[in-house]
Amino acid sequence: MQIEVRIGAIQAVEADAVVVNLLEGVTSPGGATAAVDRALEGKISRVLAAGDFRGRLGETLVLYTDGRIPAPRVILVGLGPEASFHAEKVRHAAAAAAQRARDLNVRRLATVVHGAGRGGLSPEEAAQATVEGTLLGLYTYQRKKENASRQGPEVLLLVEFDAAKEASIAAGARRAEILARFVNQVRDWVNEPGSVMTPRRLAEEVTGLAREVGVQAQVLDEQQIAALGMEALLAVSRGSEEPPRFIILEYTPGGQREQPVVLVGKGITFDSGGLNLKSEEGMLTMKGDMAGAAAVLGATLAAAALQLPVPIVALAPACENMPSGRAYKPGDILRALNGKTIEIVNTDAEGRLILADALSYAARYNPRAVIDVATLTGAAIIALGQDVAAALFSDHDELAAALLRAAEATGERLWRMPLWEDYLERIKSEVADVKNSGGRYGGVGTSAMFLKQFAPEGVPWAHLDIAPMDMAEKARGYVPKGGTGYGVRLLVRYLEDPKP
Ligand code: BES
Ligand code: MN
Ligand code: ZN
Repeated sequence: MQIEVRIGAIQAVEADAVVVNLLEGVTSPGGATAAVDRALEGKISRVLAAGDFRGRLGETLVLYTDGRIPAPRVILVGLGPEASFHAEKVRHAAAAAAQRARDLNVRRLATVVHGAGRGGLSPEEAAQATVEGTLLGLYTYQRKKENASRQGPEVLLLVEFDAAKEASIAAGARRAEILARFVNQVRDWVNEPGSVMTPRRLAEEVTGLAREVGVQAQVLDEQQIAALGMEALLAVSRGSEEPPRFIILEYTPGGQREQPVVLVGKGITFDSGGLNLKSEEGMLTMKGDMAGAAAVLGATLAAAALQLPVPIVALAPACENMPSGRAYKPGDILRALNGKTIEIVNTDAEGRLILADALSYAARYNPRAVIDVATLTGAAIIALGQDVAAALFSDHDELAAALLRAAEATGERLWRMPLWEDYLERIKSEVADVKNSGGRYGGVGTSAMFLKQFAPEGVPWAHLDIAPMDMAEKARGYVPKGGTGYGVRLLVRYLEDPKP
């Protein structure tokens, strides 16, 4: 979609539809909505007086302009109540308006920048949220035939009356375009079937994009993984015909030698459970088990495209977890890259194994912080609810606080959970340093405590269990059903001002 900023009155713009908004319960509109209302000789006021439009978040109404303004239609969209107004509401409303425009086959869409007036957002924030909502809300997985013909508008005009805001609106729109591109890329990676989005394919696509945005990419193959001594990653991948990959991205703006933030993502491109095979129901969505890897890779590419000044490393161990005559077995003992040994009690607790090697590998970068992202446990979904929030674990309050702030700003919800020593007790092994499962109870805490054993010592570390968020069970606002791209905007927001 082509995005342009236009200075002028929204009611004067040539477009197939113009979008204006309303806060919930407002009966006499102001700003651009009032200007359109006057041009339409009070049509919007009459609708409001009749009680036919409340302004509920994401509510839309199409009005026909009968030649009173150049655009044939007005799309009125609700922003929800003023008291709870936030950039997140703008994203939601912009998505609703854009989806309505798509259903009407609008090619050229004009919109006000939601939230900059009465909403109180800065013009840049408002423009970013409006464009993010639009581009993220219009995403469809193109392999579905019905979606391929639903293209959505070709042009989006951001219309602003005050010429002084032009540069900030353009900057916000540009940031949003870059972010949405990589969020939607991550959604595609997650939505592609497991047999398509293999470790090799993921590595290939990432390498191509890295070249484009000026990030150095290195992909280790099975021999190199073995030579390094990543026994855990090798063991998990061994049951599969697909070879593993260890994907490394290094973004060093201006050749900087500052300590990087290291991001680590779980890249299980399909999780059958291995010999501890999953059920039909449990396995069905397991193409999404590489969403953590996709998120950290997407965030690093986006940060580079945005030219953020911080050095970043992304590490993505990628493989399949399959049962076969060669598969790793319950009772096996593996040595991770940092030397610690692991007793396998369940081959379906594979994510923490490949992360153990990747977290160990992170130490070589002397990182300022390490953040891992993984669809790690069903227990996180049980605890927080599907599509509700991801679980955050951290041994560093300042890092945790920075991530929680980023979550609040981006609407990518996080909830902090405890890292009590009790969880370590549950994963003690008689034959190794740790075992890879502590059983059903407290499964989200024991998995986090397991990872902590492999995170570089003395380095602030955080773990995001995104199992509740990687694939949406149903569409909501700007998040479609299926791959959500969760984590990209959250991580980039954090990287804009990393702490500690
Ligand atoms: N990939 C799954 C976790 C998962 C479940 C993600 C549902 C998204 C939706 C992970 O590898 C897994 O199988 N975890 C097990 C751990 C158990 C065997 C200790 C689980 O959560 O059941
Ligand atoms: Mn598993
Ligand atoms: Zn898994």
